[in-house]
Amino acid sequence: MTHSRARGSDATGEVSLDAGAPEALIFNPFDPVTRADPYPVYRRLREEDPVHRSPLGIWILSRYADIEPRLRDPRFSNDIRNANSLPLAAAEGVEERLERRSKVMLFVDPPDHTRLRGLVNKAFTPRTVETLRPRAQEIVDDLLGRVEGEGGMDLIADLAYPLPVIVIAEMLGVPPEDRDVFHKWSTDLARSLDPLLPEDVMVTIEQSADEFTEYFAKLIAERRANPGDDLLSALVAAEQAGDRLSEEELVSTCILLLVAGHETTMNLIGNGMLALLRQPDQLERLRADPSLVPNAVEELLRYDGTVQLTGRTAKEPIDIAGRTVEAGEICIMLLGSANRDPDRFEDPERVDVGRADIKHLAFGGGAHYCLGAPLARVEAQIAFTELLRRLPASLRLATDQPEWRDNIVLRGLKSLPLVW
Ligand code: HEM
Repeated sequence: MTHSRARGSDATGEVSLDAGAPEALIFNPFDPVTRADPYPVYRRLREEDPVHRSPLGIWILSRYADIEPRLRDPRFSNDIRNANSLPLAAAEGVEERLERRSKVMLFVDPPDHTRLRGLVNKAFTPRTVETLRPRAQEIVDDLLGRVEGEGGMDLIADLAYPLPVIVIAEMLGVPPEDRDVFHKWSTDLARSLDPLLPEDVMVTIEQSADEFTEYFAKLIAERRANPGDDLLSALVAAEQAGDRLSEEELVSTCILLLVAGHETTMNLIGNGMLALLRQPDQLERLRADPSLVPNAVEELLRYDGTVQLTGRTAKEPIDIAGRTVEAGEICIMLLGSANRDPDRFEDPERVDVGRADIKHLAFGGGAHYCLGAPLARVEAQIAFTELLRRLPASLRLATDQPEWRDNIVLRGLKSLPLVW
């Protein structure tokens, strides 16, 4: 299929999903104010135009009741090749990019999705992941041990980033000491989830994807010669066993796990701690009763989740609240908005670490429900428990205005300076 582009840009050259929309209701996730706090715009969308069609022809869903069933709806596809126009800022290299995405489980439908996910599923079940708890604890102890006596830390650089990277790298069998090497590639690839990226950013992303691929090709060759007790070796064995996995899919799976394995959990720890420090009564409640931590992690995922949105393409006309999404049209589902929907959650704008009914959509839903959810939970639970146990009650934010990353899909902080 050849694709046209859904492109919008204003006089400043800035691209926007809603370029040209009437002043009344513009959803522009690229606006720095929206990036710092997208929730007021989400509220307006839910109240004024919950099944919103941007002038670019992209649908934007914001209510829990509209999103939750559609994440499970097989009439929606994760494969953007089904779209009749693409949310890209430039046409160059589109076919290559689509080809690359077609090897990634997140961007394909059954049967390829079922096959690719089935190969790694076992490593991420809650039971297998529980066995990683002592190692995750050791890593947190070590990282916090280094800063405890310092009187301050950058939560992101000192804990939230290294913890999940070390864990996923060890699981895969990638040398954790290479993390400085793959940090940049990973950061670039995390941005590739965003729509309407400017051409120079796309070029950088493609370069990083090439370098990441080369890096894994070398590791794979090593594991072929010398298999180990890691996920990479297990995937190499699956590839060698015949038609279950191509080499390109093997590389894509490793890259997806490495990127998904750290950008997201890093942001959960960062966004979650920021929310707690801004609602200190909840921080104190948690400090007084650490048995609430698992529940608090769910509440923090609901309150300020790290995956703000996901996209689907309609494979046939789909009616949503009286409007029709036509076949080939893209629908953006604002998970972050669904999680603050007052029709679903009582007093949604407040963090309540003891909240009883938290069926949030932060990990998505349906067949693509986050594979790494059990791992993210274990890591975050240990991180929050230890942060509150080890750091003194004088713990506070060193800045009122922490800086957000440029990403649209993955919401997270560049740094979070804390003092005590
Ligand atoms: C707080 C942490 C995390 C959040 C909020 C999160 C969120 C999500 C969401 C919303 C999806 C579904 C996207 C969609 O339906 O389009 C997803 C998929 C996925 N996540 Fe996570 N994730 C987190 C951590 C992790 C970790 C630690 C890993 C792995 C090590 C991981 C691996 C994956 C994979 C492989 C998929 C694709 C699953 C599929 O397509 O079947 N995630 N994640």
